Amino acid sequence: MRLTLKFTCLLSLFVLLPSLYSSLDTFTSSRATYYGSPDGLGTPSGACGFGEYGRKINSGNVGAVAKLYRNGIGCGACYQVRCTQPQLCTKDGVKILVTDHGQGDNTDFILSSHGFKELARPTMTTELMALGVVDIEYRRVSCKYPGHNLTLKVDENSKFPDYLAIIILYQGGQKDITAIQLWQDNVKEWRAMRRAYGGVWDMANPPEGALNLRFLASGKWVQLKNVIPSDWKAGMAYDSHFQLL
Ligand SMILES: *[C@@H]1O[C@H](CO)[C@@H](O)[C@H](O)[C@H]1NC(C)=O
Repeated sequence: MRLTLKFTCLLSLFVLLPSLYSSLDTFTSSRATYYGSPDGLGTPSGACGFGEYGRKINSGNVGAVAKLYRNGIGCGACYQVRCTQPQLCTKDGVKILVTDHGQGDNTDFILSSHGFKELARPTMTTELMALGVVDIEYRRVSCKYPGHNLTLKVDENSKFPDYLAIIILYQGGQKDITAIQLWQDNVKEWRAMRRAYGGVWDMANPPEGALNLRFLASGKWVQLKNVIPSDWKAGMAYDSHFQLL
């Protein structure tokens, strides 16, 4: 009896461990194309709501995703994307930050042209761009923002003190943020913000005073005290002094 139990445990370890590792390391096959913009970088009007941040962040290596958008949960996620034609493309490809939603011709990614060019070997850029669409492989990777803490930007459409909309910038790591709540001190409870669209969360009649906020990152609550000041302003970005890894 004992022996069989041990054996089963061992067996499940052997079965589970490789699948755990492969889920971290495995690439998924798909296709990618690119969109034009005046400077080849991202677009400030991406569906995630990042605005101007979405244009230059990650050196402009950003993109629109199709199914990976997941109703906005995918906003701010990073993917390693590499094309599968070795004569045209580098082995490592490019790290892309999701800022937008979009479906091309059977593609999972529509990259900024800057990001698409980064797939190519240095002498093969013209050939790759001429193809327009390429076969790729992708996998989720950690976002890294050296020198930046997680930042809460108060969206331009906010109206002090009645309507607060926020978006998270410099979201490091590879965790999905699936809920954000604000502490309402007069009733002593957490109140949920609503995902308005993309990466933008909002609340009518937000709590007064400096805001205590917590967010759910891949199933774990992270609490940030006084992260937005009592006199918050639309368009302002507030450093959380915290880094999500
Ligand atoms: C990030 O947070 C650390 C720790 O509080 C702080 O020392 C640093 O100045 C912050 N960085 C920025 C860019 O504000």
